[in-house]
Amino acid sequence: MMDSKWLWFMRMAAMSVLLLLEGCRWCTIDACVEHERVALLQLKPFFNHYNEFDSWDELKGSDCCKWKGIECNTTTGRLIGLSLDSMRSGYLDYWYLNASLFLPFKELKRLYLTGSGIAGCVENEGFEKLSSTFRNLQFLDLSQNHLNDSFILSLSQFSSLQYLNLAYNLLEGKWPHIQGLNNLKILKTLDLRWNQMERFQSFKDDDKKLELTHLEELNLEANLFNNSVFVTLDKLSNLKSLSIGFNQLNGLIDMKDLDAYLLVIYVDMAIKACGL
Ligand SMILES: *[C@@H]1O[C@H](CO)[C@@H](O)[C@H](O)[C@H]1NC(C)=O
Ligand SMILES: *[C@@H]1O[C@H](CO)[C@@H](O)[C@H](O)[C@H]1NC(C)=O
Ligand SMILES: *[C@@H]1O[C@H](CO)[C@@H](O)[C@H](O)[C@H]1NC(C)=O
Ligand SMILES: *[C@@H]1O[C@H](CO)[C@@H](O)[C@H](O)[C@H]1NC(C)=O
Repeated sequence: MMDSKWLWFMRMAAMSVLLLLEGCRWCTIDACVEHERVALLQLKPFFNHYNEFDSWDELKGSDCCKWKGIECNTTTGRLIGLSLDSMRSGYLDYWYLNASLFLPFKELKRLYLTGSGIAGCVENEGFEKLSSTFRNLQFLDLSQNHLNDSFILSLSQFSSLQYLNLAYNLLEGKWPHIQGLNNLKILKTLDLRWNQMERFQSFKDDDKKLELTHLEELNLEANLFNNSVFVTLDKLSNLKSLSIGFNQLNGLIDMKDLDAYLLVIYVDMAIKACGL
């Protein structure tokens, strides 16, 4: 009797030691998926300039669902949200991203890569490589980077996107790539604030218009659009909010051009602020 109790005790002690040695592998059985954890650790050095991601520790068994900037599906443990807002600003500090590093996150719904100094992607490792994997991506925030027009094309196959933020970048709107945006068929919100965009038509095909029939909210504030912009927006049949202050709108706006917007609930031209 005593013997078997003793044996049991020894077994439990041995198991506890094993547990500790294994870095508590069993404790985190419902936690994050190992290959996603490894992939996050590969991303860490690119975004950890101000040590914001120190909580992403390298201990085996560490539950990445609890790390800063991570959102997991509580049933599957798969990553569904990733926020790598690294507040790396300043125009001299820019770099090129290897988008393939995001390939393991197949279930991702929301990706924030704001203020990271990203100027584009390394050769052959662009965002276009992610489009066939990111079938569920709904929300993409790339604001406050150094992205220019050529980046847009790499987003054109992200057909599940509903929200796209490219505010505070270097878009100029010399766009041969407007079709890239027009492919985002179910986009509801597009934020292009604080770029240097002049127009939506491409130079090659002046008839091209922004044609996003699900778009409800468009922010074009603080760009270089003139009065001609209204004509290029008249295919946005579901638009509910348009912000277009701080541009080069001048003189009288032809009411004919505004006809299409009679159903727009909110047009913010910030006329006073523009000094018009
Ligand atoms: C989590 O994953 C399950 C199974 O794929 C799915 O049914 C559920 O909707 C997901 N939940 C969230 C919040 O994404
Ligand atoms: C980009 O990342 C992928 C996945 O980790 C890797 O296989 C590839 O070699 C990287 N490419 C470059 C140019 O660093
Ligand atoms: C846009 O960015 C890409 C990638 O950084 C660069 O190769 C290209 O020269 C840039 N184009 C313009 C017009 O600045
Ligand atoms: C607006 O700017 C475009 C160039 O972006 C130019 O071709 C057009 O003539 C301008 N229209 C007006 C009304 O100033």
